[in-house]
Amino acid sequence: MPQPSKRLEKIPPYLFAEMARIKREAIEKGADVIDLGIGDPDLPTPIPVIEALAQSARNPVTHRYDETPRGWTSFIEAAARFYKREFGVELDANAAFTQVIGSKEGLAHLAWAYLDPGDTCIVPNPAYTVYKVNALMAGADVFEVPLHEGNGFLPELRDIPTDTARAAKLFYVCYPNNPTGATATPEFYRELVEFCRTYDILAVNDMAYGTVCYDGFKNPTILQVPGGQDVAIEFHSLSKMYNMTGWRLGFACGNADAVATLQRLKSNIDSKAFPAVSEAGAHALDHVSNADTIALYERRRDNLVDGLRSIGWNVTKPKAAFYIWARVPVQGMSSAEFAAALLEKAHVLVIPGNGYGSEGEGFVRMSLTLMGDKDGERFAEAVKRIAASGLVPQTAGV
Ligand code: MLT
Repeated sequence: MPQPSKRLEKIPPYLFAEMARIKREAIEKGADVIDLGIGDPDLPTPIPVIEALAQSARNPVTHRYDETPRGWTSFIEAAARFYKREFGVELDANAAFTQVIGSKEGLAHLAWAYLDPGDTCIVPNPAYTVYKVNALMAGADVFEVPLHEGNGFLPELRDIPTDTARAAKLFYVCYPNNPTGATATPEFYRELVEFCRTYDILAVNDMAYGTVCYDGFKNPTILQVPGGQDVAIEFHSLSKMYNMTGWRLGFACGNADAVATLQRLKSNIDSKAFPAVSEAGAHALDHVSNADTIALYERRRDNLVDGLRSIGWNVTKPKAAFYIWARVPVQGMSSAEFAAALLEKAHVLVIPGNGYGSEGEGFVRMSLTLMGDKDGERFAEAVKRIAASGLVPQTAGV
């Protein structure tokens, strides 16, 4: 067999493929694993969305290629209505949107659409691995901006060297943030727009968790800020919003040139989503509320955070996304060592923070999407097992 490409050799195995392997091994050894790993909603897709799919799948029109320029018309129009309703921003459905096969696909292909060897791409550290990995595979240099508790997990733009800014073409951010659960402010977006305008950079905002917010909080969007639509593209996903990870459906919106550039690349790679899935997605965007799911995550967040605090692990309560980003409570233990010890002693799976970049070292991430939990009993069991493992000293935490 021929060797895989050199570009593929540059990248590590996908973090969640590794985590799935580790989990499989523990289960094969007989462990009852409580999986706080991947952020994959455990509740089923709402019934009205499934019914919309079934109905659309019976229409033979949906069995053929979607030959529209940017995505199935009813889906794109519903996305434009959703965006206006949710974020108060009116965007042109014909020019400012494109459909993606899940936001991961769109975020990855955007790097390929823009970056050549020698270009620079700015990414946060820690971050969802897809931004950096695809920039590297496209041959670009990657500049990582650290996210710290001290800066609210927002990049410090003034720390980016001018030469780097001049060489950069893309600047990825993600709010509500994966993995830290941090949220953005309009002030931050204003600064980012100014920075990107000054250096001619496309800002890329991953908003997969855009509607997963608690306590009445609403995360702002970069397209709400003056000038945002000139310099930014945003990615939205139905995965986390409507428990549709397996359906692979999302959209990008924002600067019309950026949207068209992404679609130009995509039209040479994929042939768009199954139109019946697009129609079901349109139904979700127009008619389905995710309020009950959010209320469930909010209860789980409170139970898990309060439970961990009660055993001496002083973790932060996030305002959005469904992740708890917690400092490793044992002095001198790395993220990976702590995660491995927790799996071994408590059969609780968490993600080591360094899986999201070097700045994630010293943290672990716990997801609120826990398969098999009904009324918080699996979260309570996780806390009990963590306490019994002896891995949390009484005064641990932030
Ligand atoms: C995560 O757990 O970071 C995400 O769920 C992974 C993904 O959505 O691809």
